[in-house]
Amino acid sequence: MSTETQAQAASDGEVNGGKQSLTVTDNRTGKTYDVPIEDGTVRAMAFREMKVSDDDFGLMTYDPAYTNTASCRSSITFLDGEAGVLEYRGYPIEQLAEKSTYLEVAYLLVNGELPNQQQLDEWKHEITIHTFVHENVKTFMQGFRHDAHPMGMLLGSVGALSTFYPDANDIKDPDNRYIQTIRLIAKMPTLAAFAYRHIMGQPYYYPDNDLEYPGNFLSMMYKMTELKYEPDPRLERALDVLFILHADHEQNCSTNAVRAVGSSQVDPYSAVAAGVGALFGPLHGGANEAVLRMLRRIGSMENIPSFIEGVKNGNERLMGFGHRVYKNYDPRATIIKKACDDVFEVTGVNPLLEIAQELEKIALNDEYFVKRKLYPNVDFYSGLIYEAFQFPPEMFTVLFAIGRTPGWLAQWLELVQDKEQKIARPKQIYTGDRTLDFVPASERWA
Ligand code: ACO
Repeated sequence: MSTETQAQAASDGEVNGGKQSLTVTDNRTGKTYDVPIEDGTVRAMAFREMKVSDDDFGLMTYDPAYTNTASCRSSITFLDGEAGVLEYRGYPIEQLAEKSTYLEVAYLLVNGELPNQQQLDEWKHEITIHTFVHENVKTFMQGFRHDAHPMGMLLGSVGALSTFYPDANDIKDPDNRYIQTIRLIAKMPTLAAFAYRHIMGQPYYYPDNDLEYPGNFLSMMYKMTELKYEPDPRLERALDVLFILHADHEQNCSTNAVRAVGSSQVDPYSAVAAGVGALFGPLHGGANEAVLRMLRRIGSMENIPSFIEGVKNGNERLMGFGHRVYKNYDPRATIIKKACDDVFEVTGVNPLLEIAQELEKIALNDEYFVKRKLYPNVDFYSGLIYEAFQFPPEMFTVLFAIGRTPGWLAQWLELVQDKEQKIARPKQIYTGDRTLDFVPASERWA
């Protein structure tokens, strides 16, 4: 039997009498423990029983960056990185991107199932009538410097919403949780567009509730003197699809931040502000901007071979390629690539597209990339689309944050209703001094 077949047989319970447990011998004591295996995991607390003496604290597991630790049970997003599969509540991302709308997907994530027509109409209505923000939010925004980063402004203003809705801390009340969820999904584009207008030195535009969710966002971003902004339906649809693709991605860095902060039972605005902060970091939400910079630097087709050589020599990194979880084509990248055609039909082709496509072609056939299972990720083409929309690079991560909001909220809702969850409080391996005697400053050795 091959190793894979043996492992499969073991998980099917066909070997060793179907016993689903791990036998561990602690060589310090010679004691043997039987640790139950459930859903392919063992409980970290089971190791606490393994002690060398009665007053020993017991064994802990050490997992910096949680690379092999499940922190929750979740029924929101399924991800198989080896196979390149992504599903929200069981529905494949490809079908949702093709047949659904962002607000319908938001309903699915938050409520667990697709809405019927009446539920969808009510949901859309609720979100639409909550797009406005208190006038003082505008004043608050105006306090930022002229060159403030829009992600910093979004972070501050989402957190500030908790001061406008002090009742939001009543997180045990389902109706209360519901209204804050609606408010956050509804107001995120308004805050994002205000942040953009602020850096552009342009007047803030109020929401236009006659428009659909993405069209209203484009209106708040770009409306100038015209009485009514009329978004191109093809661009509106492309933006809707981008929001769908970013709506959730299971326990990533920002979702983990929302869950960790939410576990203190704080209000959802404060928890989501933590998610925005985590997303701001270049290792998380900022790669699409880096792809664009890389493509500009390559500049023309004849520079591609030397760039690829640079990547293989370790002097360069092919941004938008590779993923911690996906060891196959990121399914979102396939969909974005298709959306490029629709957007460029309206805006004209971004000249960098040709370079991106050639890079992809070479990389997918080159041994260096094939051996390391490096495929395009969600960010490889999204920057090109965002640029075609004339969004400045600083806004790219803000767009990600708008799309991710229902995912953050679905995860927060799941967390606060999960009886097994407590305040998130990891342990540590202490490496500092112990039991020192305090010496007054005047007597300390210089
Ligand atoms: N270009 C060239 N080589 C790469 C790349 C890349 N983009 N990504 C990984 N490699 C190589 C590494 O050098 C390493 O090679 P080695 O085994 O010879 O040392 C091997 O592939 C494995 O890479 P790791 O860095 O161990 O993979 P990890 O899972 O830690 O990193 C990451 C994943 C950070 C996404 C990485 O692939 C990367 O830096 N990609 C470029 C940045 C990017 O596009 N980030 C967006 C991710 S999607 C998102 O966050 C929304």
